[in-house]
Amino acid sequence: MSNPPFAARVHVPADRTFDPASVRPLFPALERRQNGHPVAYFDGPGGTQVPSLVVDAMRDYLLRHNANTHWAYPASAETDEIISASKRALGAFVGGASDGIAFGANMTSLLYHFTRALAPAISADDEIVTTRLDHQANIAPWVRLARETGATVRPIPFDVRTGMLDMAAFADAIGPRTRWIAVGAASNALGTINDVASLRPLADEVGARILVDAVHYAAHHRLDARRMGADVVACSPYKFYGPHLGVMWVSAEVLAELDPARLPCAGSVGAEVLETGTLSHEGIAGAAAAVEFLAGLGGGPGDGSDGEFAPRLDAAFARLEARGDEVARRMGEGLAAIPGVRVYGPPADGVRTTTFGFTVPGRSSEEVTRRLAEDLGVFTSHGDFYATTVIEDLGVGPDGLVRAGAACFTTDEEIDRLLEGVEALVR
Ligand SMILES: Cc1ncc(COP(=O)(O)O)c(C=O)c1O
Repeated sequence: MSNPPFAARVHVPADRTFDPASVRPLFPALERRQNGHPVAYFDGPGGTQVPSLVVDAMRDYLLRHNANTHWAYPASAETDEIISASKRALGAFVGGASDGIAFGANMTSLLYHFTRALAPAISADDEIVTTRLDHQANIAPWVRLARETGATVRPIPFDVRTGMLDMAAFADAIGPRTRWIAVGAASNALGTINDVASLRPLADEVGARILVDAVHYAAHHRLDARRMGADVVACSPYKFYGPHLGVMWVSAEVLAELDPARLPCAGSVGAEVLETGTLSHEGIAGAAAAVEFLAGLGGGPGDGSDGEFAPRLDAAFARLEARGDEVARRMGEGLAAIPGVRVYGPPADGVRTTTFGFTVPGRSSEEVTRRLAEDLGVFTSHGDFYATTVIEDLGVGPDGLVRAGAACFTTDEEIDRLLEGVEALVR
């Protein structure tokens, strides 16, 4: 796929600093206004806004290359190449081989389908370790698998004061019967980052496999399946500046063991066995463009070769992580300083993303979200975010939390507007 003329339009300084102003012109959504205010998007944990180059790639696919796959005419061959190129880009993005990449409607569908493919090899003697800090997408499919096979699920708790997983509990839960460990790289409700890599030695001792839900993590930190010690990684491009789509990377060893439903309308090479029917080709084109967008933040246009994404992504995430630390401190310390506001999860300078879950005294989370949008054009989200066990364990009630999450385009002014809006709602 040709390189979009993106990197040339973004000023990337030689040092590690990252200025959100450098990317804002690329996001038309940032021109939106609400009641006279420019919209400040803090709803990224539910899906980030999209730069024009992603839409351009989708539009270009639909207007110039639209076809089904594997046929002997140019548009079909181009479609095959666009899908292969996207698998190479997403392989570099997750740090795994491109033939381990499967695309699907979303992460939940892929993971559900994946657990179905494990079912023939799971028995009543087996155990699956999950966590209570995860999104239901990485809990419910495992619970169902266990129900159908008689296997046992062992959920790992988290510390409600710090939002951190009880890592010591993994050592107790993982044993000779453990087949799978299903864990999130980061919590979409609290922003906690989990030390997933520390689980690899425990898994190796008993021959267990590790599946990492990186949906929340992927927008904030460099994803690297090998460094994480993951056998399977799942993420969703719509959380990292791409279109609505799911992506799963599966190691060659796990692919060799899988027994997916062999539907005739699914491919047979590598992780294609997890794909069903005709995919969103335009979404797949857009997902590659989202990786290109992120890689472009590392400096310089790509040369189109397979090896060029990884070093640019390394450099890009070094910048995004440094900016993320500044943002987390400004948001977290600012929220915690507002009398009565209760912030859950790791502290502002803890091991976390820029996503904060909090409550405002005397207001429902839905009311806070509505008022912030109406009064100041600040878009947050509210409820349980399908992290239902997190909300249960925090004991905040069915109304859940207000969630504010920063993205690469979030400015200090927007953070200050969020803080000002929350402060005005305390009564
Ligand atoms: C941490 C986490 N895991 C999984 C999911 C589900 O992803 P998808 O919507 O692609 O199924 C989400 C979505 O919010 C999420 O935040």
